[in-house]
Amino acid sequence: MAHLLVTGGAGFIGSNFVHSVLSDTDDRVTVLDALTYAGDRRTLAGLPADRLEFVHGSIADGDLVDELVSGADVVVHFAAESHNDNSLRDPRPFVDTNLVGTFNLLESVRRHETRFHHISTDEVYGDLELDDPERFTETTPYNPSSPYSATKAGSDLLVRAWVRSFGIRATLSNCSNNYGPRQHIEKFIPRQVTNLLDGRRPKLYGDGLNVRDWIHVDDHNAAVLRIIQDGQIGETYLIGADGELDNRSVIELILELMGHPRDAFDHVTDRAGHDRRYAIDWSRLRDELGWQPRYRSFEEGLARTIDWYRANEAWWRPVKEAIEARYAAAGQ
Ligand code: NAD
Ligand code: TYD
Repeated sequence: MAHLLVTGGAGFIGSNFVHSVLSDTDDRVTVLDALTYAGDRRTLAGLPADRLEFVHGSIADGDLVDELVSGADVVVHFAAESHNDNSLRDPRPFVDTNLVGTFNLLESVRRHETRFHHISTDEVYGDLELDDPERFTETTPYNPSSPYSATKAGSDLLVRAWVRSFGIRATLSNCSNNYGPRQHIEKFIPRQVTNLLDGRRPKLYGDGLNVRDWIHVDDHNAAVLRIIQDGQIGETYLIGADGELDNRSVIELILELMGHPRDAFDHVTDRAGHDRRYAIDWSRLRDELGWQPRYRSFEEGLARTIDWYRANEAWWRPVKEAIEARYAAAGQ
């Protein structure tokens, strides 16, 4: 039985990770989460109390981080400021959490010689043209566009430097866009689903031809567990599931699955610096670690995600009005 320290375990991907670990293994988990606007303790409700400890605190607090790292066998680092639109409005917390917070964790795992896995995004590579035959690989040069992706890129480079300079035992993964239950409703898919549940119309940025490469959150987390078990120290693995779709098609599918005409959406102001296309080549993960995604149908995964938001209105309802007011102020 291992003891995992999971940072950001009350957020979208981290909470789904904690659910998977506690249901599929005997491991013990300590969650360290600052409960920012994106964190919610209710995401961890109903999990076995004898194997789950929750610590309310920030990865920017070096002493707290050090104390928790000293008692862990593995640190899985999800905590981040994660939304591009917020990073355009107010970049400061992105620097504090994504860069300084990651630095604190790295210094502690170095001191205590603790195994570390760093969760990152494909957005560190910038974007691709729509007609580019290439996809991102582990050797694609970094070229981030937004304050969010730039701070994630910086955090990746810190991890790589701590591996090379100090010999820490770390792996990294860069994943494409996740969807699934418990994602904050500021993000694309849950925003549109809750708009429709709330009697509003979906909102498409710009021409809507931007492509994202969708993966179910459970597939992302299964790949992370595989990398923690079998990945080579110091290496990076890209995680994806061949899920490229343009935003307009995703909105049309949501409308259809929820019983509305496919054109019942609004075009709104585009995001500044909006990345055109992300696409992941995940063949290294397949060839070296034998990993495969389990969700093969985006439509089926999306339908189940819609069901989750329908059944969990109490979870998202209290923040819906404020989120939409903020988007409306930006013409979105
Ligand atoms: P999220 O915003 O839903 O959750 C982030 C969590 O981190 C929240 O619980 C928040 O309270 C916590 N947090 C924020 N600042 C903190 C701090 N200073 N100290 C401790 N906790 C703090 O994000 P998410 O979508 O679950 O993303 C998790 C990770 O996965 C991030 O590192 C993100 O870059 C990466 N990622 C996300 C996606 C995606 O599609 N969402 C894709 C690839 C990679
Ligand atoms: P988002 O979920 O913010 O993820 P990311 O910026 O990390 O890719 O957005 C996904 C895509 O959807 C992105 O191209 C921006 C677009 N988008 C909309 O068209 N409408 C919306 O209301 C939102 C929130 C995003």
